[in-house]
Formats: sequence, structure tokens, C-alpha cells
Amino acid sequence: MHILVTGGAGFIGSHTVVALTKAGHKVVVADNLSNSKIETIATLEHIIGQKIEFHQVDVTEEQAVEKLFEQNKFHGVIHFAGLKAVGESVQKPLMYYMNNLISTMVVAKACVKYGVHKFVFSSSATVYGDNEAPFYEGMDLLPTTNPYGETKAMSERILMDLAKATPDFGVSLLRYFNPIGAHESGLIGELPNGVPNNLMPFVTQVASGKREQLQVFGDDYDTVDGSGVRDYIHVMDLAEGHVAAIEQLNAGTHVYNLGTGYGTSVLELIAAFEKANNIKVPYKIVDRRPGDIATCYADAKKAKNKLGWVAKRDIEQMCKDSWHFETKQLTETV
Ligand code: NAD
Ligand code: UFG
Repeated sequence: MHILVTGGAGFIGSHTVVALTKAGHKVVVADNLSNSKIETIATLEHIIGQKIEFHQVDVTEEQAVEKLFEQNKFHGVIHFAGLKAVGESVQKPLMYYMNNLISTMVVAKACVKYGVHKFVFSSSATVYGDNEAPFYEGMDLLPTTNPYGETKAMSERILMDLAKATPDFGVSLLRYFNPIGAHESGLIGELPNGVPNNLMPFVTQVASGKREQLQVFGDDYDTVDGSGVRDYIHVMDLAEGHVAAIEQLNAGTHVYNLGTGYGTSVLELIAAFEKANNIKVPYKIVDRRPGDIATCYADAKKAKNKLGWVAKRDIEQMCKDSWHFETKQLTETV
């Protein structure tokens, strides 16, 4: 298939480009590089051993997006482009609603106009809100605690309505749990701008000495050891989930959790990282982070039964690959 990957220079998008090309698909990447670097494209070309057609395009811009569709006969789109920092979305709600909703609508509109009937969307486990884990696709969604989460819930709604109204149009709403890890080459991974928001980039930066100490946000949750529990998934497993989703996408709306089905606490993740990489991660317990829930993990059965996809890489592999990427960055910047 010939696939447009919006946000393909970013963390999950870049790994998905690798998985798609490995599966024999041809990709075109569109990214405005607001949270990624142009160098990633050359690195991707090095990993996959072929050229990538890249367009520096803001996918909220209708004309620019239509031009891509005029120049290419796409069979499908994977729409990763979006802003994702939860805290920033609370400070700058309009920026999040505009970027995340308009990009989704502009890309979906172009799909309808140009007869592209496969649309895969990056949703998030955050749409489940404070439901009781494990989260399953059919459960009622609860309000999220921030504008970022609302953009995901609203985008899902918009795409569902579009699929209902448009014969042959197929939408796959992929609800990601917590992607960590990196490609086995250590050449691509998660490169947050400034202070990381997420746990794993913080852990690797503390382990490498870039930051002094990790803060563990709360040890008084009703969990195995009091710290927050999440379903960490290797980014390459997540990437392969997209390949399965687009290859099997047919008309209508299809919702899938992409997670492992297992929860790991913050303290367990720190211990696993220390063991896998034989390195210490100094931390201290601090207050809970506002908006966090205690426990979030997937019921991963639907993706297994319907797509034949399961996450294969374990926490040890995730910790090793995250650290491999971090250490490669260090050796390349000194
Ligand atoms: P990322 O920031 O690394 O990648 C997103 C990419 O989209 C970036 O390269 C950015 O430059 C680009 N982008 C943003 N707005 C754009 C626009 N208007 N036009 C063109 N390009 C634009 O983030 P990621 O972790 O790879 O996440 C990819 C998608 O998955 C996002 O939609 C995110 O909300 C969603 N998601 C991520 C997580 C996570 O924990 N990483 C969890 C659930 C859902
Ligand atoms: N945590 C810490 N210290 C840190 C960072 C995080 O203790 O420095 C804890 C959090 O409190 C939480 C766990 O580590 O218990 C995971 O936190 P992350 O920030 O890594 O991830 P979240 O589960 O909060 O959110 C992530 C993405 C969201 C997405 C959600 C889906 O950031 O975009 O997963 O489940 F919506």
C-alpha cells in the first residue's frame, strides 16, 4: 500500500515508518517538525535502506494537504500528527484544540475528497478517564482531565461520525497505552524537547547523569506498592500494531487498545531498568501529580482476536532499548 504518515518524524511515527516499509509498504511522511527533527528522516532512510518522500507540511493547512493527495495516489493514511504534552494542553488549550482537531478534520476531509478509505488514528488510553482497569474498548468513556485528552475523545467522535456517513470509509481508532523503548538500532527513539513529561525519558536522563534525581509522583495510590501503574508497551510493538490495523482495515469504525494487558508500577519500572542495565536511578517520592490516575492497563484481547496482533517485547527489552538509545545520543553528542 501507498500510505501517508502524518507526524512520521516523531517518536511513534518514525518507528511505524520502519515497520511499514519492512512489511513492504511505501510511505510518504508529512510533518511540520514542531516536535521532531529533520535529521530523523535521514536516519530512517539509513535504517530502512531506501529513500523516503518527506514533506515539511503543517497538516492543519488544507491546501498543503490537498496538494499531497493530488501528487500521490494513497491507499491509506496514518494520522500521528498532533501535540501531546498533557500539562501544556492545560496552559494552552486553544493551541491543542486547534492543532489536534483541525489536523484530524483536514486530513480526513482530504481522504473523503480523494477517495482514500483507510484512516488510522492515534488515540490514547486517556479517553477511558478514571474507569476501572483493565480498560476494554466497549466500556463507556469518562471525561479526561485535560484538553489534550479531550482532543483525542473529540477526534474519535468526529471520525466515527464520518465513517457512519461515508460509504466504504474505514477508521481505526488505536488507543495507545504507554509507549517506551526504541528501535533496536538505537538510532531512533523518543527525544523530548526540554524537561521530559513522561517517566521513561526522565529515567534514562537521570541514569545518564543529565538530571540529578527522578521524582516519583506519589506512593499512596491503591496499587501494589503505592506508585502509579501503567501498561508500558514497546514502541516497535506499537508500530507493528499499526501495520496490522491498516492492512486489515475495512469500512466502518474499529476501535483497538494497543497495550500489553499488564500493569507495571513506577517503582517496579525503576527496579526493572536498574536490573536490565545494571545502573542506579536515584529517586525520591514526592506528591501525586495532579490529573494522574492510579492504574491504567489494557484489556488487549480484541486486537489479538481481530487483528492477530500481540505485543511481544517485555519490560526488560523496553528498558534495554530505551537505555541503548539514550547512550547512543550521549556518545554522538560528545
Ligand atoms: P511526537 O511529538 O514525537 O510526534 C508527533 C509528530 O507530529 C511530531 O513530529 C510533530 O512535529 C508532528 N506534528 C504536530 N503537529 C503537526 C501538524 N499540525 N502538522 C504536521 N506535523 C505535526 O509524538 P508521539 O509520541 O510520536 O505521538 C504520536 C501521536 O500519538 C500523537 O497524536 C499523540 O497524541 C499520540 N499518542 C501518544 C502517546 C505517547 O505516550 N507518546 C500516547 C497516546 C497517544
Ligand atoms: N511519573 C513519575 N515521575 C515522572 C513522570 C511520571 O512518577 O517524572 C509517573 C506518573 O505519575 C505515572 C507514570 O509515571 O504514574 C507514567 O507517567 P507518564 O507521564 O509517563 O505517562 P501517563 O500515563 O501520565 O500518560 C501517557 C501519555 C499520555 C497518554 C497516556 C495514555 O503521556 O499522552 O499515557 O495512557 F494519554
